[in-house]
Amino acid sequence: MANQEDIFRKVISHAKEYGYVVQSSEIYDGLSAVYDYTQNGAELKKNIKEYWWKAMVQMHENIVGIDAAIFMHPTTWKASGHVDAFNDPLIDNKDSKKRYRADVLVEDYVAKIEAKIDKEVQKALKRFGESFDKAQFLTTNPRVLAYQEKAQSILKRLGRSLEAEDLEDVKNLIEELEIVCPVSGSKNWTDVKQFNLMFGTKLGASAESATDLYLRPETAQGIFVNFLNVQKSGRLKIPFGIAQIGKAFRNEIVARQFIFRMREFEQMEMQFFIKPGTQIEWYEKWKELRMKWHLSLGMGEENYRFHDHEKLAHYADAATDIEFKFPFGFKELEGIHSRTDFDLASHEKYSGKKLQYFDPEINENYVPYVVETSIGVDRMFLAVFSNSLKEEELENGTTRTVLKIPAVLAPTKAAVLPLVKKDGLPEIAHKIIDDLKWDFNVVYDEKDAVGRRYRRQDAAGTPFCITVDHQTLEDETVTIRYRDTMEQNRIALGVVNETIANEVGIRNWLKKTE
Ligand code: GAP
Repeated sequence: MANQEDIFRKVISHAKEYGYVVQSSEIYDGLSAVYDYTQNGAELKKNIKEYWWKAMVQMHENIVGIDAAIFMHPTTWKASGHVDAFNDPLIDNKDSKKRYRADVLVEDYVAKIEAKIDKEVQKALKRFGESFDKAQFLTTNPRVLAYQEKAQSILKRLGRSLEAEDLEDVKNLIEELEIVCPVSGSKNWTDVKQFNLMFGTKLGASAESATDLYLRPETAQGIFVNFLNVQKSGRLKIPFGIAQIGKAFRNEIVARQFIFRMREFEQMEMQFFIKPGTQIEWYEKWKELRMKWHLSLGMGEENYRFHDHEKLAHYADAATDIEFKFPFGFKELEGIHSRTDFDLASHEKYSGKKLQYFDPEINENYVPYVVETSIGVDRMFLAVFSNSLKEEELENGTTRTVLKIPAVLAPTKAAVLPLVKKDGLPEIAHKIIDDLKWDFNVVYDEKDAVGRRYRRQDAAGTPFCITVDHQTLEDETVTIRYRDTMEQNRIALGVVNETIANEVGIRNWLKKTE
């Protein structure tokens, strides 16, 4: 496969062709940044959610899960800060009439400077070969240093202006950098304006009596407002966590990266309630635990990194992103935030209800502090799917397309294939299916030569193929073929279920998070 764009295009078309993801309402030309998960995608998504839920809720005695409504009392969003501060700075190009996030235009400009640094590194690597010392080169080469300084000073100024809400300066920066519209190529920009990302809707029959509501932009607030209900009914003692998986909605303006940035998406969030003063200790602990969860899936340590925030939101005293190497580069996959008592204290103020915990160890009431872990289901899906899609050169000179989805997450665990459609082989294959289907998603496939069927299952992401042949009639054995290595073993019919269970069982995978 060639460049990043080609790889990403291939990911999107493969997702459609193999029943994973399509654009919503495609027959009406689709709805921008809204997607539907088709038969295999729905299974993969469900498995990702289960893997998270088991790791967070089932494996932790002090974490429970809830399922709050999408609609919430409108004051929730005043208290959370979303009505006043959940904005993106937008700018329009007057010629193309296209709208952009002003900060993203500047960040893209900086990414181009960073690409130039990479180019210098590649050139030097070629020139110096094995003796090349990258770290030294990056800290001494004058051209690289100049690029770095330029990039940093631009980002610093952008950060300062955004923080001070100085939108005029953001526009000045875009003009000074001579950033052009990627569509029209012109520098004819409007002023920068703030745009709230929440979707509004109405509750009630008549226009006069209707209440303005929002579709929730994050699931976290459903946890905060239920903090006391859950703590009291579960008699939970601090530290404890409340987890939730559910839909969230944001009117994203720059939504061009498939399921990376959607207008309707799903989050898996956990709020961990702790004693004030212990937040940094818990923040570090959750950074470690969440990274272990990611690594347990075996998608390559080199594809993850932490990106600690320098500029913190007003409510946070520490924040980091777990970034993943998507086809378009390292980008945020999950956020881990130490949110202090901001949310609970604010809900106390707006609701007039006490949201405090009586700590029997110190005989005192306090508003707990919170460390949050928040990951998008769809973004995790894209991480898994894009990382799994490989084009492999085989020894016989052909290539195969294979979707190496971690077996625990694979939509279909095994395909059962009779070598031929006669001699009683289909009947045995059906019997195997009848046994396996109690535990796993399995499919039956008898069409085409067996080699083509293997390739079809490779491309669909099925980790195992069980082939029934004439030898099966004689000695009750079948062939098991492994998707990732293409290795084939002969095993007894009686151990097929157990063999698959060992490979796909969630227990064996989650053990790696310990
Ligand atoms: N409660 C904290 C919160 O919502 P966030 O960084 O805005 O924080 C958390 O979102 C995660 O949700 C992100 O790391 C990302 O995985 C996912 N996410 C956010 N916006 C998204 C979007 N428009 N489309 C898909 N996933 C999104």
